[in-house]
Amino acid sequence: MTKKSYILALDQGTTSSRAIIFSEKGEFIASAAETYRQIYPHDGWVEHEAQAIWQTTINSARAVLARAQLAANEILALGISNQRETTIVWDKDTGNAIYNAIVWQDRRTAKFCEKLQQDANIVASVHAKTGLLLDPYFSASKIAWLLDNVDGAREKAEAGQLCFGTVDSFLLWHLTGGKEFATDATNASRTLLFNIVEQCWDDELLALFNIPKQLLPEVKNSADNFGVTNAKHFGAEIAINALIGDQQAALVGQACFAKGMMKATYGTGGFVMVNTGAKPVWSKHKMLTTLAYRINHQSCYALEGSIFMAGATMQWLRDELHLLTDVASSQALAQSLVGENSVYLVPAFTGLGAPHWQPEARGAIVGLNRDSGIKEIVNAALASVAYQTQDLLMAMAQDGIKTTQLRVDGGMVVNDWLLQFLADILALTIERPKITETSALGAALLAGLQHGLFSSLEQAAQSWQLQASYRPTMSAASRQRHYQGWLAALQRVKD
Ligand code: G3P
Repeated sequence: MTKKSYILALDQGTTSSRAIIFSEKGEFIASAAETYRQIYPHDGWVEHEAQAIWQTTINSARAVLARAQLAANEILALGISNQRETTIVWDKDTGNAIYNAIVWQDRRTAKFCEKLQQDANIVASVHAKTGLLLDPYFSASKIAWLLDNVDGAREKAEAGQLCFGTVDSFLLWHLTGGKEFATDATNASRTLLFNIVEQCWDDELLALFNIPKQLLPEVKNSADNFGVTNAKHFGAEIAINALIGDQQAALVGQACFAKGMMKATYGTGGFVMVNTGAKPVWSKHKMLTTLAYRINHQSCYALEGSIFMAGATMQWLRDELHLLTDVASSQALAQSLVGENSVYLVPAFTGLGAPHWQPEARGAIVGLNRDSGIKEIVNAALASVAYQTQDLLMAMAQDGIKTTQLRVDGGMVVNDWLLQFLADILALTIERPKITETSALGAALLAGLQHGLFSSLEQAAQSWQLQASYRPTMSAASRQRHYQGWLAALQRVKD
């Protein structure tokens, strides 16, 4: 009999679907990825074709198996990490989505959320139950929009004919041939419908958003038994043993298992998350309280700051302004700038996330002079990632979170200039691990844990290895000058 020694992780992200195979020790074996179309029907609207999410995921899973020359019966378990909050409603009979996926960045429900925000009791109750704010970022208002705007959707939802899921549930449904309709507690915690203290869908919240309960998936642990893939997909069944939101997965992949450990992931957006242990910390400074992971019905909580544009700003420079032929060339351009940059780029393309939460704000480039050119703008775009991270760390510090180290990952962290500038602006040591596909690794570690490959998270943490660290070298005065310039630019895009 073939020995099952590998774990397949599917990392379904905002701009691409990736599949990565890890060994049973958490070593990287092979990867495959496919990008797909971003749809922007109106200002502030962002959609994906649900079918493209599924198709690129299954394609990359098959491609990575072929690349690693592995058959499905050599895969011990499968784990999924996914872009969170993105909302899909599909038909139970056909599996077809009733409308495009409404992406987490989408701001179409800003007015609706603003209305709810006017009632202080609602705001307080929503925060106490979910740890979140009333922002279009989260799934609930997107579900309500679908039910109210797609012909016949509300009637079908009430008749129990439709399913709502974040991307994890949608993929699980399709991987299992429609047999399993579930999510995990981390993904549920981003919907604005899940009570993170009582660990259940909350009837009051469902009533607030007018969402029928029969639309919702069962909520399981992040490491759990989620069924098996239908044999038609890979030639044999594979056990699905982990579902987890990608930022939480990155926290796991960065082995931030001890209270106080912090990571930042720079993909499409940027997400800073700190492990706060078995008890939730309720932010007074607009950070999000969320589930880090749930294992054996034991919840670990985190505090999170989400910024909406990080890598996506570099894509904008490449695709819309044509200032870069490829994103990798940004490092040399940023480095080539001599002296301090007077240009600041505020990437509020789809509003501002934490700690500002201003869905209607839009981007700006300020401080241009006659000498300003491509390198100043590229440098400012990269620098905006560091400044936005500092905004988050300042808010977290006010909530009592202090740290001396930050583990970073995601596509942008190959950029050494960015990591040095980040260390300088944050006045923190920045650590980059050997495996930067931490979301996929996190999903793989949880799937492995469920299978008994690791006896504990601490044992799984041993797979984490440092690749490089960056220490701050900028003077306090220069840091202060840089950051004050950012705050002034930021002020110009806020109401
Ligand atoms: O909350 C949104 C986040 O999960 C998206 O992650 O990696 O697709 O930018 P990513």
